[in-house]
Amino acid sequence: MEKRNLGSSGLQVPVIGMGTWRTFDVRGASALKNARHIVETALQQGSNFFDSSPMYGAAEQVLGEALGEQRSEALIATKVWTSNRNEGQAQIKRALSYFGNRVDVYQIHNLVNWLEHLALLEEYREKGYVGAIGATHYSSSAFGELRRVMKTGRISVIQIPYNPLQREVEQDILPLAADLNIGVIVMRPFYEGGLMRRSPSAEELKPLAEFGVMTWSQALLKWGLSDTRCHVAIPATSHVSHMIENAAAGNAPWFGPEERAYVARLARSH
Ligand SMILES: NC(=O)c1ccc[n+]([C@@H]2O[C@H](COP(=O)([O-])OP(=O)(O)OC[C@H]3O[C@@H](n4cnc5c(N)ncnc54)[C@H](OP(=O)(O)O)[C@@H]3O)[C@@H](O)[C@H]2O)c1
Repeated sequence: MEKRNLGSSGLQVPVIGMGTWRTFDVRGASALKNARHIVETALQQGSNFFDSSPMYGAAEQVLGEALGEQRSEALIATKVWTSNRNEGQAQIKRALSYFGNRVDVYQIHNLVNWLEHLALLEEYREKGYVGAIGATHYSSSAFGELRRVMKTGRISVIQIPYNPLQREVEQDILPLAADLNIGVIVMRPFYEGGLMRRSPSAEELKPLAEFGVMTWSQALLKWGLSDTRCHVAIPATSHVSHMIENAAAGNAPWFGPEERAYVARLARSH
């Protein structure tokens, strides 16, 4: 699995990580066993970067439990998500208890109350509980504010949506991230799963075989990561087989402009 420097965060990340929205908000012995199996498989494949949030119900706790003794092999990105400072502090304390007193990338979820949380996270970073500080937003309507946060010089990571149907970040966000050496985590590489509902035929994917692409999910992951301003993509899955399939997209050769245009055409036409 290829690794990239996550901007100026000081972290080296695998290009394919994993999200936990919906897929890890689970309860019950068999669901927890499945989560453990997915995490174990991810680690075996070199996909050791995991993203979560207190917004995702039980996901942080389930991820922490699934990692168990293997916490030190993983990089954890989670988030603070509340308008209230005290609740923010409570969220951070809970997350630290799930992840062995360390969160590698602490992000401000959807920029909620970002100024206050930024100061709080800087205190935790100072004390060694937090590696890098980041900010996320899922909507292009908030990209103006995201740019303002990036320009403060106080964050080293952003998390943004990027897939062939959502390319707004190409306008200002990715160029600014590259200028400021800010790490980029790609959320929603499959358009929240929407791009996986109807996949192109094996025949249509054939021209991508020389890039190691055998499936549509791999084509979409390679599409995003072939823009080297992006450092790690975090597809979510509840299936071990999908984890293996996704992780297999994490190596060169990367697409050039022609292959990217081809995948974008396939995405629009299915
Ligand atoms: N504001 C924010 O900060 C924010 C917002 C949105 C998302 N995120 C983060 O980004 C992560 C990813 O985004 P997302 O979960 O919305 O969407 P996504 O990763 O684009 O799509 C996830 C969906 O794709 C399916 N899938 C995954 N691998 C597959 C494969 N190989 N073949 C077929 N289907 C596959 C999954 O279903 P199966 O379970 O069947 O595999 C799941 O339904 C989230 O989990 C979260 O961590 C952050």
